[in-house]
Amino acid sequence: MNSSLLFSPLTRRSHPLIRININNLTKHTPTRQFHLTYPAMSEKLKPAARVSGSRQDVWTIINEAAAASPKQPIVNMGQGFFGYNPPKFILDAAKDALDRVECNQYSPTRGRPRLLKALSDAYAPFWGRKLNPETEITVTTGANEGMLSAFMAFIEPGDEVIVFEPFFDQYIPNIQMPGGKIVYVPMHPPAAGSDRTLSAGEWTIDFDQLRAAITPRTKMIVLNTPHNPVGKVYSRAELERIAALCLEHKIIILSDEVYDRLFYVPFTRVATLSPEVEKITITVGSAGKNFYATGWRVGWLMGPPDLIRYVSAAHTRICYSSVSPLQEACAIGFEQAEREGFWDQCIADMSGKMARFNEIWDELGIPYSKPEGGYFVMANFSKVQMPEDYPFPPHVASRPRDFKLAWFLIQELGVAAIPPSEFYTDENAHIVEDYLRFAVCKPDEVLEDAKKRLRGLKKYLKQ
Ligand SMILES: Cc1ncc(COP(=O)(O)O)c(C=O)c1O
Repeated sequence: MNSSLLFSPLTRRSHPLIRININNLTKHTPTRQFHLTYPAMSEKLKPAARVSGSRQDVWTIINEAAAASPKQPIVNMGQGFFGYNPPKFILDAAKDALDRVECNQYSPTRGRPRLLKALSDAYAPFWGRKLNPETEITVTTGANEGMLSAFMAFIEPGDEVIVFEPFFDQYIPNIQMPGGKIVYVPMHPPAAGSDRTLSAGEWTIDFDQLRAAITPRTKMIVLNTPHNPVGKVYSRAELERIAALCLEHKIIILSDEVYDRLFYVPFTRVATLSPEVEKITITVGSAGKNFYATGWRVGWLMGPPDLIRYVSAAHTRICYSSVSPLQEACAIGFEQAEREGFWDQCIADMSGKMARFNEIWDELGIPYSKPEGGYFVMANFSKVQMPEDYPFPPHVASRPRDFKLAWFLIQELGVAAIPPSEFYTDENAHIVEDYLRFAVCKPDEVLEDAKKRLRGLKKYLKQ
């Protein structure tokens, strides 16, 4: 290596990555054969801070607990993946797509024209017009990558993004990637939520707290309706108040509506409130959630051309384009869903599962937040008394009570649920330390098995 390339005689500063040990330069080095001191290999292999969080995440803890449980096999109501297949007409479309040459090659970075058109048609009844498939929609690799693209498109280091707690956990690293600062605003469960079952709609945000969280650097706010994990569908009145603040302070709304086909009360899409609100809103959708196919990784973002253009540019940088045959299958899914009565069936099926599963809480006298949408239910375990000397491993013992409850349920009953304090900051974790989240998107026999096992809680209930 020619060391003169690495050492500027004018500044006498070494290349930032290679330090020259000056003590090794002697009069006897006419050939300038410098001995270079490289940073240790371990330094070079050090990961960037953005991917090297040290705390074990909830998924690892719950999976480990499940593997260690004596109650095998575990009934897994933790993660929100479906325990059954997409409907036949969509599966057939995917299989057919694989037989077509053009469906196995790159798709346009903004999405396959057939899917863009199908989305434009499918959303027209809600928007009251057809979104322009070329400028107002972009297809992404799942909603998650879509949201990363949106943050990459608009967030500069130090820009602030408001996120409500509990949040979908992927928002946080996605905002941090481009250097965004997250400003948290907690949702509050109803005060009587530990005594009786109330609607998930009773979880509220404090508008004074929201207003106080806004600063001149607030660039975006993330909404999620229907909400994971709470099951709340934001009312029109609540959305109008949030949108008014965003218009006043010129804040982009990123509305995560991945559960938009699963609502059990009237559902308002924030972008449709007014033309002014539409101009500042990016709406997020997910074929994974719509078609019971979370592994397909097809999502989309919809919004005004001035926003979508830059989201598409970021998406192109991140993954160029999304998986072709499954985009094609989703296009056909949207073309046929209405005719197949699929959307109504989704609501009927999931609300049926929800009602049947929640009977267990009524039977045990455990209150829960009755979901208005989505497929998660939050049950309040304040009445459950775990033995005082229960042997929790240190990484669980150091976390809030909901982690201990989740561990206890897995070990004693063989039922896995998610502790929602993972979706709050440490400061606000106490708000949900009595709750556990259960995913009901599972086959009926799994739900029945879970109910049978949960009856084992009777002996731990405070009288
Ligand atoms: C609220 C919310 N947003 C986004 C996603 C991610 O959707 P996708 O699988 O399409 O990336 C999920 C998945 O659980 C979710 O719950």
